[in-house]
Amino acid sequence: MKPVRIAIFASGTGSNAIALIKKAQSLNEGQIEICFVLSDKAEAPVLEKARAAGVRTYLVEKTSDRQSHEKSVLALLREYRVDWIFLAGYMRLLSASFIQQFRLWHEQREQIVNIHPSLLPAYPGVDSIARAFKEGVSQSGVTLHLVDEGMDTGRILRQEVLRRTDDISLTEWTRQFHQVEHRLYSQFLENIALGKENTAYFKENP
Ligand code: GRF
Repeated sequence: MKPVRIAIFASGTGSNAIALIKKAQSLNEGQIEICFVLSDKAEAPVLEKARAAGVRTYLVEKTSDRQSHEKSVLALLREYRVDWIFLAGYMRLLSASFIQQFRLWHEQREQIVNIHPSLLPAYPGVDSIARAFKEGVSQSGVTLHLVDEGMDTGRILRQEVLRRTDDISLTEWTRQFHQVEHRLYSQFLENIALGKENTAYFKENP
């Protein structure tokens, strides 16, 4: 099987990006190739971390013009013939036309995924862990989902529940979320590597 080519998009800390990179590097058959990590923020710590882990990075900065931003990103995806996009704390929505172009390159399959720290459709958007915590929920969790043009609205692939005990701090609960995120996300990457998740390889339109 030829390697599956992955791009990771991230805007922040990058703990999920690093978990994915480590998983890819641990797969000894080289089934996964992380082509690059892309960020829209120059100051994002993920850029330095990815480079330190030996992964190429690109910065395509936020501009007022969404169309030209996405055009630059699509050019990179095409250049590297990327098969799957993993969003990992990427703070931008992808437009319907961006998603459609990516599907066109992959036999109409949906090959963009995201990880989110809530049991979607509850708590979409930012600060999901803190919002759930402050409302005193008895449980929340992590969702792995396909990406559409909405805010955390694509089809759900996996969910894992995280209970909140009365004595747990927000810091500790947040740590637990990240642990689950890293595990779920790298397991999904491994499943792609093992062919347990089908991949339509990048193909230019006829
Ligand atoms: C994670 O909580 C992820 O679920 C959400 O954004 C956060 C990114 O964290 N989409 P990190 O940059 O991967 O550490």
